[in-house]
Amino acid sequence: AVNLKGKSLLTLKDFNKAEIEYLLNLAGDLKQKKRMGIIGEDLKGKNIALIFEKPSTRTRCAFTVACTDEGGHPEYLGKNDIQLGYKESVEDTARVLGRLFDGIEFRGFSQEHVEKLAKYSGVPVWNGLTDDYHPTQILADLLTIKEKFGKMEGLNFVYVGDGRNNMANSLMIGCSKMGMNFTLIAPKQLWPIKELVDECKTFAKESGSIINISDDTEEVAQADIIYTDVWCSMGEETKAAERIKLLKPYQVNKELLTKTNKNDTICMHCLPAVKGNEITEEVFEQYSQVIFDEAENRMHTIKAVMVGTI
Ligand code: CP
Ligand code: NVA
Repeated sequence: AVNLKGKSLLTLKDFNKAEIEYLLNLAGDLKQKKRMGIIGEDLKGKNIALIFEKPSTRTRCAFTVACTDEGGHPEYLGKNDIQLGYKESVEDTARVLGRLFDGIEFRGFSQEHVEKLAKYSGVPVWNGLTDDYHPTQILADLLTIKEKFGKMEGLNFVYVGDGRNNMANSLMIGCSKMGMNFTLIAPKQLWPIKELVDECKTFAKESGSIINISDDTEEVAQADIIYTDVWCSMGEETKAAERIKLLKPYQVNKELLTKTNKNDTICMHCLPAVKGNEITEEVFEQYSQVIFDEAENRMHTIKAVMVGTI
């Protein structure tokens, strides 16, 4: 049986297929429970630190609501609220928080920081987004796909847009672990780094799926899911003009959808979206049901992560 007690979620690389399935099933159960109005006690007496160096709507609210739903106490620590990074080292902050809290969420820039927090705090640490990875988002995406298609294995997942960011990296990991064929369509300058692609190819081999990196939008043909994300991630604001120029041909719009052959293809987006850039308003609204289910599922999956690991 799967037991994740004490385990941190820093990247999905560290979780195998059975462990991811376990978290998705737990999230499904917790979602049911919430729908039935049952008050949970799975985090009763637990204190959770929420460190945010970058802004957030979904991740912050998901952690806060999920923790409170299960009887725990969430403590929000914004970038100007604690000494982390300017007056106190990550190691010392980690050792303090580890003495006081039962789990720590971290959103920020550096993947190294979230890893250090886990190493020095001694409690489960959850990556709420770094420059490199966004694993809790992927759990919500996988749950949404499972709900829509009733399965994950064998589906064709196509990511279009900035192929080098935290979402592209993490979706490639999640899909290859779960047996979904993963196609990434982006201009060559924005392809993911080779080491990560190679690593994901070994996951894909194990799960019986394939990874395909391309710069040709015709490759959306067999897509069950088309996924996109912002062209400029948090911290990349100065790159806007250059990215718009480079990525314009990779916009998710009506024309792109005409290149698909399946009749039940869905579009997904982790949000927040810049409509008119990576996705048109029209396509966004056409798939808004899925996109906001995905946003809601952040809460249920994050709840599963906390309940499963504390
Ligand atoms: N998708 C997501 O992580 O949203 P926030 O940045 O609002 O948390
Ligand atoms: N790639 C985006 C994801 C936001 C949830 C960013 O890092 O800003």
